[in-house]
Amino acid sequence: MDNLITIDGPGGSGKGTIAKLLAAKLGWNILDSGALYRLIALISENIKNTDPDKIGLELKDRKIIFELVDDQYHLFFNGKDVSDHIRSEEIGTKASDLAHNQQIRNLIKTTQRSFYDPNIGLIADGRDMGSVVFPTAGIKIYLDATIEERAKRRQIQLKEKGLKVNMPNLISSLEERDLKDKNRKVSPLLIPEGAKVIDSTNLSTDEVVNIVMDLT
Ligand code: C5P
Repeated sequence: MDNLITIDGPGGSGKGTIAKLLAAKLGWNILDSGALYRLIALISENIKNTDPDKIGLELKDRKIIFELVDDQYHLFFNGKDVSDHIRSEEIGTKASDLAHNQQIRNLIKTTQRSFYDPNIGLIADGRDMGSVVFPTAGIKIYLDATIEERAKRRQIQLKEKGLKVNMPNLISSLEERDLKDKNRKVSPLLIPEGAKVIDSTNLSTDEVVNIVMDLT
């Protein structure tokens, strides 16, 4: 698939930041698939139900749009900006639990694929973008960093959003989520076939972007 870059990797590895910078450089759209799983978690909380059929009904014919607001991508669900609601660690953990469900993943897969328009281009960020959702993507990246570095980055992100952060809790929540994401039976987090692995621990965002741009 032309004009498509997938970026997979664990939480806090910098996927979102790199995706945003690449999208700006190339003029392409972005798909933050983690935000979709978080949206599902939020819907599940709101309707107090984890049944994929019930969640599916809530998603039917609803518009899901990623839009830049003050230089950050926001998620609009049926016209409502839900970005702040989906960013807590609690919703992240719930998203990770629901992401084990094959029916939920199938529900989201169709939505994810609809974001790709070869005439515009797409940066797709997530856990299974290069392995399951877009296995024939032209460029696949697997972005990683040490747990300490990833927790530091998450801490900065959460603080910017005005959320309180406890570092030991953040590290254990990231570790727990990594373990679940890597060991689940359906679409586990793995290095997709043909992906370029980038360890961003000691790299600036510009350095990572340049490595990817060299592949285009
Ligand atoms: O990337 P983010 O932390 O927002 O993702 C939240 C959760 O959604 C992840 O921990 C993971 O369990 C799930 N997810 C997934 N597949 C994706 C993206 C996210 O299972 N492609």
